Amino acid sequence: MRIVSGMRPTGRLHVGHLIGTLHNWRRLQETAECFFFVADWHALTTDYDRAQSVGASILEMVIDWLAAGIDPARATIFLQSGVCEHAELHLLLSMITPVTWLERVPTYKETQQQLADRDLSTYGFLGYPVLQAADIVMYGATGVPVGADQVPHVELTREIARRFNRIFGDTFPEPQALLTETPRVPGLDGRKMSKSYNNAVFLADAAAEVRAKLSRMMTDPRRARRRDPGDPDDCPAYQLHRVYCTSEELAFTAEGCRTAGIGCLECKQIMIARAEQELVPIRERRAALAARPDDVRDVLATGTRRARAAAEATMAVVRTRVGVGGRV
Ligand code: TRP
Ligand code: SF4
Repeated sequence: MRIVSGMRPTGRLHVGHLIGTLHNWRRLQETAECFFFVADWHALTTDYDRAQSVGASILEMVIDWLAAGIDPARATIFLQSGVCEHAELHLLLSMITPVTWLERVPTYKETQQQLADRDLSTYGFLGYPVLQAADIVMYGATGVPVGADQVPHVELTREIARRFNRIFGDTFPEPQALLTETPRVPGLDGRKMSKSYNNAVFLADAAAEVRAKLSRMMTDPRRARRRDPGDPDDCPAYQLHRVYCTSEELAFTAEGCRTAGIGCLECKQIMIARAEQELVPIRERRAALAARPDDVRDVLATGTRRARAAAEATMAVVRTRVGVGGRV
């Protein structure tokens, strides 16, 4: 299995990224050949007017990845814009991608509505999924670990790969989306955890801050008073119990919730203690890495060189198949 996945550098990573994406990456790197990259060109499709902050977020994100256990000895960690071949393949794929396919991608209109303050009527933003397709097929990926919102992009990648193979000869495998088992991670207010909702627990947050945040995380509203029973299935905090607690702890807290035998704070303390078992070492590694930014830059540079070699090999084949491109 060959795995490719990317993340846009849009700021510090939080527990939602950790549970939703990085756990999955960490597991995949044990068994599959993995390419994990910083999608800085993709960030530019929406943040072109603050390109400086995109650039400044790159190293921060790689620090979070490494702290969370993404291992450069097992996975190729690279920077998208450091491999110019992605741009070249994006261009070639754009030649065969009908505009109607792109206009039909759900994220196209959704993101334009969500980010109504920005002008996203650009060529680059429409082509976002074509660039993503280039990222994926460049490394012959068979699996793409993504969240549910990204499944249409992987579907489109399959269609573009199929069309390329039909026109220019069999070149690219059709990748599958690999969905994470964990459902969306709720933030402190019960909505999806997101920096923009201001409801996130960041990997860089200090221990006291994590405790304070999770202690006031939303619970089943039926438990307004201590004596009112609740239902863990309607409790956002309990979603984190499911990730972090043992089966004994899950049974104990669920029973305590339904019988009002336990208070919400006590219940959450059990989850917080478990979450901290993962977050404490991440926080420590993060601090150590942040103190050695040149080493982190080296990791990214080494991975980028490795990715570039693979991309050059792919593009040599692609140019021959297409019959255009390369040396005169
Ligand atoms: N679009 C993805 C996201 O927003 C990021 C991304 C870019 C990606 N290229 C990719 C994910 C290739 C998987 C494979 O999350
Ligand atoms: Fe949630 Fe636990 Fe409170 Fe029940 S007791 S509502 S599971 S925090």
